Amino acid sequence: VIKVEVPLGGGRSYDVLVGRGARHDLAALLPGGVRRVAIVTQPGVPVLDTDLGVPTTTFTIGVGEEAKSLTTVEALCRQFVSAGLTRNDCVVAVGGGLVTDVGGFAAAVYHRGIAVVHVATTLLGMVDAAIGGKTGVNLPEGKNLVGAFWQPSGVVCDLELLDSLPPREWKSGTGEIAKYHFLTDDDLLALPLEERVARCVEIKAEVVASDERESGRRALLNYGHTLAHALEVGGSFDLRHGEAVAVGIGYAAALARTLGRIDDARVAEHHRVLAAYELDAQPPAGASWDALVELMARDKKALDGFTFVLDGPNGVELVAGVERAALDAAWERVTHG
Ligand SMILES: NC(=O)c1ccc[n+]([C@@H]2O[C@H](COP(=O)([O-])OP(=O)(O)OC[C@H]3O[C@@H](n4cnc5c(N)ncnc54)[C@H](O)[C@@H]3O)[C@@H](O)[C@H]2O)c1
Ligand SMILES: [Zn+2]
Repeated sequence: VIKVEVPLGGGRSYDVLVGRGARHDLAALLPGGVRRVAIVTQPGVPVLDTDLGVPTTTFTIGVGEEAKSLTTVEALCRQFVSAGLTRNDCVVAVGGGLVTDVGGFAAAVYHRGIAVVHVATTLLGMVDAAIGGKTGVNLPEGKNLVGAFWQPSGVVCDLELLDSLPPREWKSGTGEIAKYHFLTDDDLLALPLEERVARCVEIKAEVVASDERESGRRALLNYGHTLAHALEVGGSFDLRHGEAVAVGIGYAAALARTLGRIDDARVAEHHRVLAAYELDAQPPAGASWDALVELMARDKKALDGFTFVLDGPNGVELVAGVERAALDAAWERVTHG
């Protein structure tokens, strides 16, 4: 089991345990004084078979983004009261990003905040959602509009739990892993899975530690996400998040090439990484470019004109003031070679 520290101020640093069987070390991540644990999970997620050393009660939430709601959080908190959960107790969220976002947010608001430990059961959860302390739920008006920064006391990434993960969910996780290739000079493909996941956690931990509340550098974690979000919001495309990110990474490479920030070899490197994960960089058939541009203009990162996270001579960085003509040229590049 590999231990990665997320270094945060104010005594809030925590460990992420990565490895097959890591869940058996979960009890060590619970804060001292916890007398009862509320396990928040979902049908279909592997059942936690770890002895936590204290009584546990399991609460099950629904599947799908509709379950990621304030209604679910209210129901959870009311059930916490019934189960006698006090401010010194702990939530353990066992599931993918949906469960850790909802369980983490319930923990953030119950008694104005109790401890939470995440057990990520999807690849995407392990390398992204469970790390970094962003929690929240959706509103009918949009995704993740209500939430809190609430750092966990620890995170478990037990790769054994991925044995039951459906192929599409696996693919979604690899889209997020592909992103990390461009945030580091390491050759992530050369690493065995366990070390690769640990390295992704380490990269995210380092970026989060340098900018916990996303006022700057943390935006780099959105590499490939500007177009991905537009594809997710704007279409009825059959794309999991990581698959949309893969298309976004391909597009970001084309845009960086259009702007003269990278050369053809570096574009080819993007495609080599995406291909290694069998990810499709091609936008889905039927995508309306004008509609996507409209959505990207509304993206929260678009503060002045179009702002993109782009590769370049100094590595990946936030680039403001990208003109529409460059966006169009890059789209032409990805759709017509
Ligand atoms: N907080 C963050 O920083 C952050 C980052 C990225 C994504 N997210 C959020 O995470 C969510 C997406 O997370 P996700 O991709 O993990 O999807 P998910 O949590 O919806 O899980 C996908 C499906 O896989 C099932 N599943 C989970 N683990 C399984 C396992 N081991 N075996 C079999 N089935 C399993 C789930 O029940 C679900 O049906 C979104 O709501 C997104 O907004 C949050
Ligand atoms: Zn993402």
